[in-house]
Amino acid sequence: MRRSLVAGNWKMNGSRTESAALLQGVKKGMSSASKAEVAVCPPYVLIPLAAEKLAGSAIAWGGQNLSAHKSGAYTGEVSGPMLKDYGCTYVIVGHSERRTLYGENDALVAEKYGAAQTVNLIPILCVGETLQEREANQTETVVARQLDAVIDKHGIGSFRNAVIAYEPVWAIGTGKTATPQQAQDVHRFIRSRLASHDEVVADNIRILYGGSMKSSNAKELLAQPDIDGGLIGGASLQVEEFLTICRAAD
Ligand code: 13P
Repeated sequence: MRRSLVAGNWKMNGSRTESAALLQGVKKGMSSASKAEVAVCPPYVLIPLAAEKLAGSAIAWGGQNLSAHKSGAYTGEVSGPMLKDYGCTYVIVGHSERRTLYGENDALVAEKYGAAQTVNLIPILCVGETLQEREANQTETVVARQLDAVIDKHGIGSFRNAVIAYEPVWAIGTGKTATPQQAQDVHRFIRSRLASHDEVVADNIRILYGGSMKSSNAKELLAQPDIDGGLIGGASLQVEEFLTICRAAD
């Protein structure tokens, strides 16, 4: 049985005061009996605050990105060991905003995935197609290419300690959600792609859906057989919205 995971990707949002309130609210509202796992990924500078506020709770925290390098002259970068040092469990890798706005290609994403695993951070590998690619019937080709870049470099076995997030680019921050069936179809495709290498790995890996998931549509999406949780942007910034999604995954 795969344990559901709901992870909040705060993106570049939140002051220290707002974030403290958000962390406090989520911690308070989470039932300790929750079967679903919950995590938050704040901006780098707020990770120490998350570590402080969430210590001793069942809620995990993680980064939104990391450097492919361990340390050195890389101005502005943050490394895997640094995230680990602040108690991070997860790190998002290859988010579409990193791919499109910061030029991260499949090769760099694969390097970052490896850098995360080297220090026992669990990468949340994001894949997904743009609207143009979907309309050109290239969804599976694009997602396969994004997955294969990592499988080729690190092997199928590396997916024993990873999470995948399917995030159709056209659904991110747009209020436009993939229908449960559209999402399920791609999730199933991802799982079958992994199964062609190793069925056990494919069976066990958690595949999250991301893209305008909110309290009003979470239940239906999470009811799909191959959707094992969510990677939540906007709705993770509001305590009640986020908690409702967490409960739907429970
Ligand atoms: P939204 O939930 O704001 O659409 O963002 C999804 C996302 O990009 C999560 O990583």
